[in-house]
Amino acid sequence: PARQQVPSDIVILADHEQHARQHLDDNAWAYFSGGAADEITLRANRSAWDALPLWPRVLRPLAGGHTRVTLLGRTLAHPILLAPIASQRLAHPDGELAMAYAAAALGAGVVLSTQASASLESIAEAVRPDPGRGPLWFQLYLQHDRGFTQALVARAEAAGYEALVLTVDAPTSGARDRERRAGFRLPSGVGPVNLAGLQPPPAPPLGPGQSALFDRLLHHAPTWDDVAWLQSITRLPIVLKGVLHPADARQAISLGVAGLIVSNHGGRTLDTAPATAHALPRVVQAVQGAVPVLVDGGIRRGTDVLKAIALGASAVLLGRPAVWGLANAGAAGVAHVLRLLRDELEIAMALTGCATLADASP
Ligand code: FNR
Ligand code: LAC
Repeated sequence: PARQQVPSDIVILADHEQHARQHLDDNAWAYFSGGAADEITLRANRSAWDALPLWPRVLRPLAGGHTRVTLLGRTLAHPILLAPIASQRLAHPDGELAMAYAAAALGAGVVLSTQASASLESIAEAVRPDPGRGPLWFQLYLQHDRGFTQALVARAEAAGYEALVLTVDAPTSGARDRERRAGFRLPSGVGPVNLAGLQPPPAPPLGPGQSALFDRLLHHAPTWDDVAWLQSITRLPIVLKGVLHPADARQAISLGVAGLIVSNHGGRTLDTAPATAHALPRVVQAVQGAVPVLVDGGIRRGTDVLKAIALGASAVLLGRPAVWGLANAGAAGVAHVLRLLRDELEIAMALTGCATLADASP
């Protein structure tokens, strides 16, 4: 039987990680926990949040405080969303559905991955009616077949997704050493079901000196022109995920995107890319309040959430810890992770003298 109860000795997100190690085989562990190459960025994401001190203010009135924020025209109970993570049924048989139910119960937003192991329609149908749920967004990887991509976008619109999160930091996968050592493969029965029917890209023979990356794969990689194309085929707001450089942030704004997610893909794409806590204030400064800026990578404590908000983020996304909760206890585990993080956020607010998140500043 699938695990559904949270062990009582789990009291922080890091406890969830330790427990999850026992429930995941080496294959799944390598996939979910690994980063690119030497994992310098993976570690830097964490250490950068840790290294930022919070300067508390005392004796401020805190009664009636709350964690509410507004995001793309909606008021949210708190600023925590679940990041898009592929293949969640590798962590627990309930996979994406459990994640979505837990998020809805805790008022957290959900970003469903293009590579989800459950149909995008089934997830939307399950949580859309819940009045307390957070935003429901679809993460898009542009496929080499743009016609297929357009049909996928139409499906997301029809299913009721409220925004498209276009991931732009992974034109190719990073150098995933841990995955290669583990010989990572998806078990049968877990796969990107929303991409069913997509034909593999044509693979013309490579001439002498040609590169499988530059002369094949990257012919299909998205460019700024594709952002404009995507805008032309959808009525949904587009949020770019994976922006670190302030100049890219400005270019995105000039194209009229609705939001940005400062992210290095949880340290899984370019190793030695900067920690998101370092990139965030630079992007926020470049954007000048034109659109909301979100951030992910290494958020493990309520104090991390408060620091992100203080540096100008509108909200944060949580990646791996939600997977650990899922592996430990399905929907109950994910809900537990979200509850812990939100409780810690409230404590951090109270102890810094912030009755609302608007009170947090650099
Ligand atoms: C991801 N991430 C990701 N991002 C995305 O846009 N589409 C995807 O399908 C995936 N898949 C995925 C799988 C796994 C196993 C991980 C760990 C991450 C990146 C994810 O959305 C997010 O940016 C990071 O996970 C955030 O960092 P933390 O919270 O995991 O440190
Ligand atoms: C990953 C891809 C799916 O990070 O985004 O595994």
